[in-house]
Amino acid sequence: MNTEQCAKIKERDIRSPQFWKELAQSSKAHKGLPRSEKGSCWDQAAATYDDLEACSDYQFQVNTILETLKERGVLKKSARIIDIACGTGIYALRMAPMVKEVVCLDISKAMLDRLREKADKAGIDNIKIIQADWRNFETDEKFDLVFVSMTPLLRSMENVDRFLELSSRYVVFISWAGIRQNELVNRLSKEILGKEPDTTKMDIQFLFNYLYTKGLAPDLRFFRGCWERTRDADRHAEAIIWQLEMHRELSDEEKERIRKMVKGLAHNGMVTSKTKVRIAFMFIDKEADSFSC
Ligand SMILES: C[S@@+](CC[C@H](N)C(=O)[O-])C[C@H]1O[C@@H](n2cnc3c(N)ncnc32)[C@H](O)[C@@H]1O
Repeated sequence: MNTEQCAKIKERDIRSPQFWKELAQSSKAHKGLPRSEKGSCWDQAAATYDDLEACSDYQFQVNTILETLKERGVLKKSARIIDIACGTGIYALRMAPMVKEVVCLDISKAMLDRLREKADKAGIDNIKIIQADWRNFETDEKFDLVFVSMTPLLRSMENVDRFLELSSRYVVFISWAGIRQNELVNRLSKEILGKEPDTTKMDIQFLFNYLYTKGLAPDLRFFRGCWERTRDADRHAEAIIWQLEMHRELSDEEKERIRKMVKGLAHNGMVTSKTKVRIAFMFIDKEADSFSC
C-alpha cells in the first residue's frame, strides 16, 4: 500500500464502525465462498458434519466454551437462548439441559433433521427448531444469549447488527481466525478446482474491529488445534466433496475422481486427514462497561 492510499484510509477514520462495515462489504478477502449460504450445500454436509466431535482438540474447544458460559452465569435455568445457524446442534444440545429453552435456527433441513434425531435420542425436549434463512427471519423476541458459530452469516456486519439487537445481554461469536490448513483438501482442491482454498476468508479482523468501534470490547480467546479425522475412504471423500462444492458444483466425473484419489490413500480402508486451525471465541456482555467507578 502506498502513502497516498494509507492517507486515504486514515481520512476515513478507522475508529468508525461504518468504515469496517464498508470494508467488510468491499474486501475481496472477506467475500464468502460462492455457494456457502445455500441450504442445499449444507444439506450435503449434514451426513458427515458430526465427525468433528471425535477430535479431542475440538472437544476441548466446545467444552471450554460451555464451561466459560456456565462460569459467567449465562447458562442458567431461567435463560432463553437462540443458536443461529445451529447446524446439527453440537452446542445447542449441550446447552439445552442447563437452560429454559434453546431456539435452534438453520437454513438446512438435513442439518436440523440430524439435530432433531439427536435431541430425541437424548430425551431433550426444551428446544424449538426453526428452518429459516436468517436473512429473512423476523421476530420481536429478545434472548438472553444469541449464539452464532462458524457460519458465513458472520461476514456481513448487517447480520452482526441484527444479532446484537436480538440479544438482551449476551452474544457469542465463534469463527475461523486466520489458520485453516488441511493438506488433503488443499491437494484435491488444487487438482479439481485448479487452486488451493483461500483460508483468509471469514477472518475475524473485520468482525472484531467492527464490534470494537461500536463501543463493545468482546472477550477474545483463541483455540489452536489439529482436527484429526479418521474415517472410511467413501465417507472421507463425501466430506471433501461437500467442501469443494462450496466453491462450485462438481460434475459426476469430478466427484468420481475425488473418490478414487481418496481411496488410493486408504490403509485398511481408512483415511486420516488433519486440519490445523485457529478459532476465535468472542464473548460479549452488553452490560460489561456499565460498572461504576
Ligand atoms: C459450519 S456450520 C456451523 C454449525 C454450528 N453452528 C456449529 O458451530 O457446529 C454452518 C451452518 O450455517 C448455516 N447457514 C448458512 N447460511 C445460513 C442462513 N442464511 N441462514 C441460516 N443458517 C445458515 C448452515 O446451514 C450450517 O448449518
